[in-house]
Amino acid sequence: MPTILITGANRGIGRALAQSYLQDGWRVFAASRQPSESLIEGAESLALDLSNPTSIQELKLRLVDIPIDIVWNNAGVYLDKNQPLEQVDNNDWLRSFEINCIAPIRIAETLAENVSMSERKVIAFTTSKMASLAVNGARAYAYRSSKTALNMAVRCFAKDQEAQDISCLLLHPGHVRTDMGGPEGDIDIATSITGMRTVVDQINPTCMANMDEGYFNYDGSRIPW
Ligand SMILES: NC(=O)c1ccc[n+]([C@@H]2O[C@H](COP(=O)([O-])OP(=O)(O)OC[C@H]3O[C@@H](n4cnc5c(N)ncnc54)[C@H](OP(=O)(O)O)[C@@H]3O)[C@@H](O)[C@H]2O)c1
Repeated sequence: MPTILITGANRGIGRALAQSYLQDGWRVFAASRQPSESLIEGAESLALDLSNPTSIQELKLRLVDIPIDIVWNNAGVYLDKNQPLEQVDNNDWLRSFEINCIAPIRIAETLAENVSMSERKVIAFTTSKMASLAVNGARAYAYRSSKTALNMAVRCFAKDQEAQDISCLLLHPGHVRTDMGGPEGDIDIATSITGMRTVVDQINPTCMANMDEGYFNYDGSRIPW
């Protein structure tokens, strides 16, 4: 049975991803700050707080010797939404880096051994179109810069993992109607996850993701770095 671990699985895009993989018969580890078996029926709940390095280390102990086909770093924060620069709190900016960039890489590092034992060997990272240096707009300094930093860190990590045949993917989910995306989002959650799954599920060691053309939009098109 293929296995996936998803962070931020308690609501929004992460929760829908967990439910979608469960429906397809996958073993699903649903990681969230306040885990509860009743949150997603059939999933195995894991406690994970991205702002706590000990919590990330504890994942390794909990998952020892379990092959994980896909680790999906989905959890994220958008702490400076709609804020002009003068209103952005430096602590929020640092926290954005901690949660959106450093923690996903540490989780990937921590679970790389589990992924390398699996058949598919994929680590997916949810980034944002707002991270693109090529198509950037104004405001959202903390969010944009933390996701741009994630993109760079993932490219470094991907090179480090080449010998293990681990594919690292960066995906923009679209502007999705969630708590983060708001009701003004362009697409619903189902459209986003169906598209992203089409990209992620076809990647395996014989079909590695090529990062040269940019990172993935949810519909499979590429967004320039
Ligand atoms: N929605 C969009 O339009 C959009 C666009 C581009 C990119 N994205 C990205 O897509 C991903 C999912 O977004 P979403 O729209 O589903 O957002 P969401 O509804 O706000 O959900 C965010 C998830 O991240 C979790 N999270 C936040 N801080 C955490 C921490 N310290 N430790 C563990 N979990 C934490 C939240 O858990 P709690 O419930 O515990 O807070 C929640 O499960 C994010 O990475 C986001 O940046 C979204």
